[in-house]
Amino acid sequence: MNIMSHERIEKSVVILGILTFFAVIWGGLVQIVPLFFDNQLRPENSYVKPYDPLRLAGFNIYVREGCYGCHSQMIRPFRWETERYGHYSVAEESMYDRPFMWGSKRTGPDLARVGGRYGDDWHHRHLTNPRSVVPESNMPSYPWLNTTPADITLTEKSIRTKMKLGEPYTEADVASVKDALKDKTEMDALVAYLQGLGVAFKEQKR
Ligand code: HEC
Repeated sequence: MNIMSHERIEKSVVILGILTFFAVIWGGLVQIVPLFFDNQLRPENSYVKPYDPLRLAGFNIYVREGCYGCHSQMIRPFRWETERYGHYSVAEESMYDRPFMWGSKRTGPDLARVGGRYGDDWHHRHLTNPRSVVPESNMPSYPWLNTTPADITLTEKSIRTKMKLGEPYTEADVASVKDALKDKTEMDALVAYLQGLGVAFKEQKR
């Protein structure tokens, strides 16, 4: 295209508008369409499984307590991030997170790969009083999680809602909630959730 005709395009709102419109559509298609054919992103082929009842209860507590306000779950593909946290986050890992917990605020470290980094006992102590294990921490304490039973009814409702949204749960999963959450505190549920973060990704055979 010679300079003259380019100038004509830039000076005409109509032509520029139409061409920009098609350029944006083309750019969008190039990014979105290949994803429809990526088998990895199909739930039935994925190593990512829906949350079991205890972890789902933990996820709901994570949302309720606003942990995402200080913690992201999105490791970006930069060396300074991957060296600190591990492999960068991939799209399918958050397939069953509603809402997703990527976040952008990092008062504390990213948690996308925190599963297995510490023992359960460490998490219990840390969440009860972060200063007991990390003296300089400014993370709030969450002692009430130790004495509040995990919410069976809410977890059953969560599973039913997720079923409506197409997640592969069955009525048997709803029925299993009572046993799975029996004698469990909110602390147990939240720690189970944290201990699973990033684990499926690390364990998959690649
Ligand atoms: C006001 C900000 C803030 C909030 C809210 C917060 N955290 Fe933190 N968190 C931090 C900071 C700062 C650290 C780093 C110091 C430490 O380990 O305590 C941290 C550390 C952690 C760690 C250890 C991570 C690692 O790799 O060492 C975990 C796990 C964690 N937080 C979980 C949670 C959970 C679960 C919640 C919600 C119940 C939560 N945090 C809420 C600020 C926060």
